[in-house]
Amino acid sequence: MSFASSWLALREPADAAARDRGLIAALAEWTAGRPLAATDLGCGTGSTVRALAPLVPSLRWTLVDNDPALLAEAAARTGAATRALDLAAGPEAAVEGAQVVAASALFDLVSDAWLRRFAAALSPEVAVYAALSYDGRESWSPAPPHEAQALAAFRRHQTGDKGFGPALGSNAGAALAALLAARGWRVRVADSAWRLGPGDGPLIRALADGSAEAVAETGALAGRQLAEWRAARRAARQVEIGHLDLLALPPEN
Ligand SMILES: C[S@@+](CC[C@H](N)C(=O)[O-])C[C@H]1O[C@@H](n2cnc3c(N)ncnc32)[C@H](O)[C@@H]1O
Repeated sequence: MSFASSWLALREPADAAARDRGLIAALAEWTAGRPLAATDLGCGTGSTVRALAPLVPSLRWTLVDNDPALLAEAAARTGAATRALDLAAGPEAAVEGAQVVAASALFDLVSDAWLRRFAAALSPEVAVYAALSYDGRESWSPAPPHEAQALAAFRRHQTGDKGFGPALGSNAGAALAALLAARGWRVRVADSAWRLGPGDGPLIRALADGSAEAVAETGALAGRQLAEWRAARRAARQVEIGHLDLLALPPEN
């Protein structure tokens, strides 16, 4: 699955505003200024580094993605090391040697089997920062017609194969929290919903168009109903899209 740099740029300010500051502060406290090796999985153009570097400056980043154009942009914009890897082949190579493993807006794309492999690949002293996993909560106001039917179809579409097998979609954040907690990590989860208003028109319209494409693929809405729903979403003035941030700190000795 490919992601346009322009889409990542459009969502980055909303992501930056939504990231839970408490979890980032807790990560900074845990690093205690140590120059730890950090890996960002599915880095895109490097938004995780841009969000974390001012607050957790001691991390030494390697950015991983399978899209060479995004990796080149990430390298140019962050100055961090980059590594081209297909994560769908497995997470082991990407997390090897890392003391902090980060990812933003990635885990909702992966399968349950892949997530289990990921958790099993982590050595016990690694911290995990997983931000902005879509959690299925959406609120669009004024309420579009056919919203419940369309949102249910959109959530189903999110569980399609994004290259990693059947995707966890909106269950990803909770699944990762449960897996890491069961293996002894000290897990904290926080709300990182986008809260968009009239100043976020371009992002709201892009979300409306993207979700309409997805719902059209499911066949749940078509023709006039699909057009009405899409138009009402494009005209929405207040939008909330639910995400979860997670910080998992290693088991205490
Ligand atoms: C939703 S974007 C998030 C990008 C970035 N983390 C951010 O928050 O802006 C998902 C990213 O995962 C990458 N990705 C998707 N499938 C991948 C795979 N099989 N191997 C490596 N990266 C992958 C995409 O290229 C994209 O950069």
